Amino acid sequence: MELLSRNDFKKLTDVLYRRTGIAIDEKRYNLLYKKIENYITKKEYRNFREYFHDIRFNKSDSPIFQDLINIVTINETYFYREKHHFEILVNEALYELDKIRPASEPFRILCSPSSTGEEPYSIVLHLLSEAKLVEKRDIEIVGIDIDSTVIQKAQKGVYSKRSIDFLPKNILDEYFTKTGPLTYQIADFLTDVVDFRVVNVMDKMAMQRLGKFDVIFSRNMLIYFDDASKKEVAMTFHSLLKPKGFVFLGHAESMNRVVSVFQTKRFGKHIVYQKI
Ligand SMILES: C[S@@+](CC[C@H](N)C(=O)[O-])C[C@H]1O[C@@H](n2cnc3c(N)ncnc32)[C@H](O)[C@@H]1O
Repeated sequence: MELLSRNDFKKLTDVLYRRTGIAIDEKRYNLLYKKIENYITKKEYRNFREYFHDIRFNKSDSPIFQDLINIVTINETYFYREKHHFEILVNEALYELDKIRPASEPFRILCSPSSTGEEPYSIVLHLLSEAKLVEKRDIEIVGIDIDSTVIQKAQKGVYSKRSIDFLPKNILDEYFTKTGPLTYQIADFLTDVVDFRVVNVMDKMAMQRLGKFDVIFSRNMLIYFDDASKKEVAMTFHSLLKPKGFVFLGHAESMNRVVSVFQTKRFGKHIVYQKI
């Protein structure tokens, strides 16, 4: 028996879009319907209507809605992805901010979204080689994602061979322990450095509670958002940034078309957004 028609899928993705900003293309029906059907069966719903009733009338932070999010999100990430961003951050952007921030203020960096943690940990690994910065001031790193399973993985810090493929060997040897034929555990002191939380970037109140930041990394999430959601998120980032703070986006992403509250700044051939 078919539990999830294309029409049902559309109803589900409409709710998802309204609550999270994630716009799911109808083309993903073929990839997702089996996973959602399996979930509906496992939870012993008799049909889609019963399931959808629970989705609609439960809050966005209910376990059933969280499970749907965890099924549909695309969490692809790996260490040192678009490595030039980490180099710009530790060799240039933070030094620029250092000149204009009171010496007693910590630097605060937000990874939104962090997925399974490779991105915030890549930032920490780059900072470790910039002793001048780290010795001078405290640096706080917060990683958020809407998917609770990826946040649990990030907190554990256990990675597959695929995740660590682009790590230099000396970094791998120094900060990771091989725990299985294809698994690597990141050093405990590194998992303590990043504060991971489950947060929906569209939830303005939850975002404001994170505090103010000097730098926001938001790579490879906005590509799944339409212009209206992109604009909302861009304005939230703007309100979270301290003056002259930076936003790093993925290479396929841009905010210029939807907002004009950032100026683009070039570091070599790469573009970073700066709060005006
Ligand atoms: C492809 S990963 C990108 C991870 C990392 N930034 C990178 O570039 O390697 C996209 C992540 O965005 C998260 N995401 C999607 N919508 C979100 C939302 N509304 N709030 C927070 N995270 C979201 C997904 O759960 C997923 O883990």
